[in-house]
Amino acid sequence: MFLYIKVSFYNTIYYYMCVLYKNNSMTQKIWFKKKSPLHGSGLFAKTNIKKGQKIIQYIGDKVTKREGDKRADKQIRKAKKDKNNGMVYVFELNKRYDIDGDVDYNFAKFINHSCNPNCEVDIIDNEIWISSIKRIKKGAELFYNYGYPFDTDFVDHICKCGSRNCVGYILSDNDWPKLKKYEKKTKTKSK
Ligand SMILES: C[S@@+](CC[C@H](N)C(=O)[O-])C[C@H]1O[C@@H](n2cnc3c(N)ncnc32)[C@H](O)[C@@H]1O
Ligand SMILES: [Zn+2]
Repeated sequence: MFLYIKVSFYNTIYYYMCVLYKNNSMTQKIWFKKKSPLHGSGLFAKTNIKKGQKIIQYIGDKVTKREGDKRADKQIRKAKKDKNNGMVYVFELNKRYDIDGDVDYNFAKFINHSCNPNCEVDIIDNEIWISSIKRIKKGAELFYNYGYPFDTDFVDHICKCGSRNCVGYILSDNDWPKLKKYEKKTKTKSK
């Protein structure tokens, strides 16, 4: 009994140490969270950041693909009912597992989307990292392209990033040609 209490005490300490570490409280943070002019909260550079630097890990519950799909579908259904609730935090880690980042200790979930991003998402050693793809000045908001596919729901994700090359929707840049083609077709139809 005594041994059991001792083991679970150390397990609990270990768990909270991991959460603290994952929360980046024990490492040097190069980002901070504040209200974004674009949407809700965002993450911002705390220092100048050079190109190709790992900034923050996208952490959360590691779940099987099946569970990840279930959680994402649930979130999408919620979002359809309430437009203010459009946040899906499930990220693909690999062919077997997803990361559901909808946890308090995941600050990477606050990064907004841009059509002209300064960051990208990389899988490094089986971890999801947000890294810089250009030099970022201290104080600038961090963005990556969410990579949403061009599907039947694309119009539901209006982009307000305000960059010069904004395509108007939160959409993977791989699918921008599809959007252009679609817009050309719908324009000629309406003439
Ligand atoms: C994962 S959250 C990002 C953090 C969010 N700002 C917050 O405070 O929770 C994703 C949601 O933020 C909003 N968002 C992010 N980037 C956007 C953009 N470029 N234009 C419009 N809305 C955006 C959308 O509602 C999207 O569903
Ligand atoms: Zn945009």
